[in-house]
Amino acid sequence: MSKSHEKVEKNVGLMMILIVVAVSFGGLAQIVPLMYQAEAIEPLPGVEPYPPLELAGRDVYIREGCYNCHSQMVRTLRFETERYGHYSMAGESVYDRPFQWGSKRTGPDLARVGGRYSDEWHRVHLINPRDVVPESNMPSYPWLAGRQLDGSDVQRRMRALRMIGDPYTDEQIDGAPAALAGKTEMDAVIAYLQGLGRHAPRTR
Ligand code: HEC
Repeated sequence: MSKSHEKVEKNVGLMMILIVVAVSFGGLAQIVPLMYQAEAIEPLPGVEPYPPLELAGRDVYIREGCYNCHSQMVRTLRFETERYGHYSMAGESVYDRPFQWGSKRTGPDLARVGGRYSDEWHRVHLINPRDVVPESNMPSYPWLAGRQLDGSDVQRRMRALRMIGDPYTDEQIDGAPAALAGKTEMDAVIAYLQGLGRHAPRTR
């Protein structure tokens, strides 16, 4: 055994430092190319930044913690695509900040729920899930129907998103309060749910 190798093997501190150096080279080789790839992901055709009402609904969805029970990520497994539709693509989530992927499912995945039920079904379901799905253990969210949305809030949100790259136009931001006028948080969540998966590739 060479002298210098012996030194490394007998000196734990030195060995740890060299291990960290070796591992970080491996990490760099894997992580750096991914960063460039992430920049290059294009939205799928039709995928645009959320319109104001859906954006407000998305915020309510996150505030209420719906993601604790619902993922929005269909995996590439046969039994998932049979149940939900086409598996999720990176280009669908370009404007999802924070993204809603995940594997924790107390309730079903929602990535393809848009259009599956009527607005009225969602309204009844959110006020009391047991009225439409008797065995449901989903919590009720009756207060959403009584809360008006705040248009100035959503404008600030849209400007912040534009700063980090979402291509909102001035007209869209100016028009946001009108789009929210008279709407409740319930209307917003339903608009958001109905938009989920709208631009996903079709399988059937
Ligand atoms: C404690 C877990 C839990 C939370 C939190 C939760 N859900 Fe659910 N959700 C469920 C379960 C379980 C089901 C399946 C039974 C049913 O349809 O009610 C479900 C079903 C659904 C469905 C129907 C999906 C389908 O494909 O049939 C929608 C839509 C939905 N939830 C939306 C929401 C929204 C929006 C929120 C937040 C406001 C929310 N859920 C919060 C557990 C949860």
